[in-house]
Amino acid sequence: MKKVKRNILLNPGPATTTDTVKYAQVVPDICPREDDFCDVMQSVVSDLTNLVADTQEYTTILFGGSGTASVEAILSSVMNDGLIVIINNGAYGKRMCEIADAYQYDWVEFKSLSYQPLQLDLLSDFIRKLPRKVAYLAVVHHETTTGLVNDVESIGAMCKENEIELMVDAMSSFGAIPIDMQRMNISYLAASSNKNLQGIAGVSFVVANKCKLENEKSKNTPNYYLNLHAQYKYFYETGQMRFTPPVQTIYALQQAIQELKIEGIKERYERYSELWDTLIEGITRLGLKHLVQVQHHSKLITAIVEPTAETYDFKSMHDYLYAHGVTIYPGKPDRLNTFRIANIGDLTKNDMKHFLNLLETYFKSIGIHPTKGGVDHEESGYG
Ligand SMILES: Cc1ncc(COP(=O)(O)O)c(C=O)c1O
Repeated sequence: MKKVKRNILLNPGPATTTDTVKYAQVVPDICPREDDFCDVMQSVVSDLTNLVADTQEYTTILFGGSGTASVEAILSSVMNDGLIVIINNGAYGKRMCEIADAYQYDWVEFKSLSYQPLQLDLLSDFIRKLPRKVAYLAVVHHETTTGLVNDVESIGAMCKENEIELMVDAMSSFGAIPIDMQRMNISYLAASSNKNLQGIAGVSFVVANKCKLENEKSKNTPNYYLNLHAQYKYFYETGQMRFTPPVQTIYALQQAIQELKIEGIKERYERYSELWDTLIEGITRLGLKHLVQVQHHSKLITAIVEPTAETYDFKSMHDYLYAHGVTIYPGKPDRLNTFRIANIGDLTKNDMKHFLNLLETYFKSIGIHPTKGGVDHEESGYG
């Protein structure tokens, strides 16, 4: 197997993949309605479900699309007949609000800061004081905007007490941070193939409680391609997706899942955490700070406060690193002046050290010099 040129992706997904995952896409052409391909999809569905729930009670519904497709499939198929509370503490919470708005649903926003833990007592109070009964609550598990983890288990318990159906966008936590849908009282969960699963982009999926899917089958939904019930029913009856699936991406996902099983979720998270420790040690040495406190941090994606030196410019830093095979990502939150580094994917400690060395060289080239005890603020202009 010829090695593929390796790029170090420190953007928050699609993540760096193994060559075996890339090559798993090179297969004989096949019609996706053939039993052989249905078997591949069935194994992917069982394995994905098994990562977060009991396969007797839950199942996975696959879509061809980016992660947003599965979030929209849940919102547009399930949450259309009652008041929805959407927690917005970052760009992806905001996106769910935009989706609910696009479908003209009955929704209200609970806003919270993207870099501080959500206050559950305020959320409970907010829900209690609403003039109407809340039917659904939507939250992002890991806000990729900053690296903040929302305490889904406590939110799930609160939903149970108040008979609220919970949906979770687990796009950037799935496959790394342990999830138990039953224990956490999650009815619907959205994720995709290309982050911690280390697969290729193009498969979006929903893990759902089968009973709930059955019960809500007759709902009149304002969607078509993203109709969760129709997709579930068709797959259940035929073993196929309703429309053309991303065939080769699904082969790659099957391989990526095998590799996750071999590594283990716990071990993958430990590897990611070690990469994070290396990252934090390195940026601290360079005098940089990150936004989210350690106890609420995913240790997967980090929003780092940008230097205030006049010579600093994100684009030129990005271009320098990119020319050396390392991709970084701009910040999301408005006004916070951050850039983002993800430590997910098929990465090693040496990759992270390589990035940190490049970053130090780049900083020196624009006149930012770390001192022994950290950065010299006056000279460097770090904030
Ligand atoms: C938490 C979260 N939700 C949704 C998405 C959207 O995924 P996509 O860009 O694949 O549509 C992302 C992507 O980074 C994400 O991190």
